[in-house]
Amino acid sequence: MSSTPTPHRWLRWPEDRATPRLGFGADYNPEQWPREVWAEDVRLMRAAGVNIVSVAIFSWARLQPTADTWDFAWLDEIMDLLHANGIAVDLATATASPPPWLTTAHPEILPVTANGETLWPGARQHWRPTSPVFREHALRLVRTMAERYADHPALTAWHVSNELGCHNVYDFSDDAADAFRDWLRERYSTLDELNHAWGTAFWSQRYSAWDQILPPRLAASHPNPTQQLDFKRFSSDALKSYLRAERDVLRELTPDVPVTTNFMVMGETKGMDYVDWADEIDFVSNDHYVLPGVQAHDELSFSANLTGHIAGGLPWFLMEHSTSAVNWQPINVAKKPGDLVRDSLTHVAHGADAVCFFQWRQSRAGAEKYHSGMVPHAGEDSEVHRTVRELGATLGALAEIAGSEQVPARAAILFDWESWWTSELDSHPNNSLRYRQEALDWYSAFLAAGVRADVVPARSDFSGYDVVVAPVLHVVPGALAERLQAFVEAGGHLVTTYFSGIVDQNDHIHLGGYPGAFSDLLGIRVEEFAPLLEGETVLLDDGNEGSLWSEPITVTDASVEVLAWYKTGEQGGRPAITRRPVGSGSATYVSTRLGTGLEPLVRSLLDDAHLPGDLPATVRGKVELAVRGTAEHEFWFLINRTAEQVDVDGVTGDVLVGRRSGGAPDATVVLAPRGVAVLRRPKA
Ligand code: GLA
Ligand code: GLA
Ligand code: GLA
Repeated sequence: MSSTPTPHRWLRWPEDRATPRLGFGADYNPEQWPREVWAEDVRLMRAAGVNIVSVAIFSWARLQPTADTWDFAWLDEIMDLLHANGIAVDLATATASPPPWLTTAHPEILPVTANGETLWPGARQHWRPTSPVFREHALRLVRTMAERYADHPALTAWHVSNELGCHNVYDFSDDAADAFRDWLRERYSTLDELNHAWGTAFWSQRYSAWDQILPPRLAASHPNPTQQLDFKRFSSDALKSYLRAERDVLRELTPDVPVTTNFMVMGETKGMDYVDWADEIDFVSNDHYVLPGVQAHDELSFSANLTGHIAGGLPWFLMEHSTSAVNWQPINVAKKPGDLVRDSLTHVAHGADAVCFFQWRQSRAGAEKYHSGMVPHAGEDSEVHRTVRELGATLGALAEIAGSEQVPARAAILFDWESWWTSELDSHPNNSLRYRQEALDWYSAFLAAGVRADVVPARSDFSGYDVVVAPVLHVVPGALAERLQAFVEAGGHLVTTYFSGIVDQNDHIHLGGYPGAFSDLLGIRVEEFAPLLEGETVLLDDGNEGSLWSEPITVTDASVEVLAWYKTGEQGGRPAITRRPVGSGSATYVSTRLGTGLEPLVRSLLDDAHLPGDLPATVRGKVELAVRGTAEHEFWFLINRTAEQVDVDGVTGDVLVGRRSGGAPDATVVLAPRGVAVLRRPKA
């Protein structure tokens, strides 16, 4: 990881601190409702087992109605009311959405797109991460909040801004240009270094003074790729620097209160390198929304597992997900029976110690009025609210798992923001490549094979795993290549794929044939890529079908075995999947995109690595297993991936959630459709 990790500090529960508990609650936006509703809110929260809420996230205009007036009375009242009812507050710094008076007085804080369009007020997050004017006003608010609530007994954590970068990660304004130049000076020291890194000999781009350098604004053709990559790095860093600025004010005034901010490890949200951000806060929080599609639940599990590893395996906070539909997809479908509890417990299974929602009470007005809440428009007498209460009771029954950590799997999938950013830049052999989808497909294949896999940052120590899959590991600086080589030489099984090992950290090609940094380790050489057209597929002799990509592989090392051959297409008769044994380890290469066809390959890999499944073969692929642990116990989460009942035989352990069909210690665990069981077992 990038910097010295700060110690993990969890919520400062107001009273009875020693009692373990899982957090349960929501974003609470009382300013959207008349005061009479507040008492009703708190009554319902108590009945549902809510113990924490996030308050004031979008309250700036209410708290500071003009530059020089403040209105804290309503928030004082809310803080007191919540505290009197035993509900802790994760208090937002309220800076996420600047008020109209500020943007009217200072339109120079508004972000600008690559095309030069201003993002005007009217929605939210219309601020430049690098604006000194915005920062001055925002930090004044943070300071005022921290001074006012420092000693409030409800205050249990600080919530910096909200989803930093959700709508404003890429700002191309003049402020951004200035800050980008400072960032580049820091990175390269000299213009010669920058010119080399950016390859500016190409297309007459050589810079002779720093102030000639701009963000990659709308250009006449493909903007310089390294400029684009550095702008992505810079934009993530600019928000990180803003996060630190708020955090530093909070740490100065309330050193005992932990600081977090809600990440968005979900779907295609790729602007913020959260691996790099994680050390800046006291505990990691994440927001996750289910994306429609056949891999919806796998994607949730993937995101949760990755979030846990970004948090170093320690507990993290699920700050937001939804009780049912959202409002921002093209079509917003309600959750099916079982989904709400299963989604929540899947996050817990991968290390979440708090399960919260956006939002408590479904809005009556505004852009999110069709977004579900814990109290829907239909009110307390509704299926959603009844399920919320059931979930509150279930989380109560799991209190003892609070503080337990992710128990590592024996297989890992490497996930790397640099490779994500770089592999998807324009002017590539195939612009349909989707980095995260490839990683998710591998994760789905492990789920289908019934073997646990972790999703871990490429920067983390992966040497303890038996199998490491590095899909599309495109950017490979020398040190990473050496670590992977050492992993294989120590007996590890490495798998990598097409478009891996191709460039260094400057996006310069590793010369001599592909896959560059891994050619020797894999014992293969490729002279040209052979991407496949949209809809074009090629058959492999093992019955699989490849898409997106293919390659004419030449085997250069006599020990290499060909696991599958291309049967059709230009590459027909050439190797498609190769494996080079290295001592007791191996290096495998997959030269095409197999998508849902990865499962048989994963199984054969697992056989080679002697990694059996943890659950009986009868439930393989139907049930996901995730494991948390303490020094004494393991907590096994059995998650039904299907919409049918599944019976799991032969698994011992005390049932904390779920049921067995009989009284014997290994009686069948009966999983309802989309159901979850949690078992406590002695540590293995
Ligand atoms: C994000 C935001 C919330 C809300 C939800 C809707 O998570 O943080 O304010 O907009 O999305 O899904
Ligand atoms: C045109 C341009 C060249 C080069 C090629 C690439 O011909 O003149 O500079 O960009 O396209 O196909
Ligand atoms: C994120 C946010 C949501 C919404 C969507 C739009 O997921 O959390 O509030 O803005 O993006 O795509």
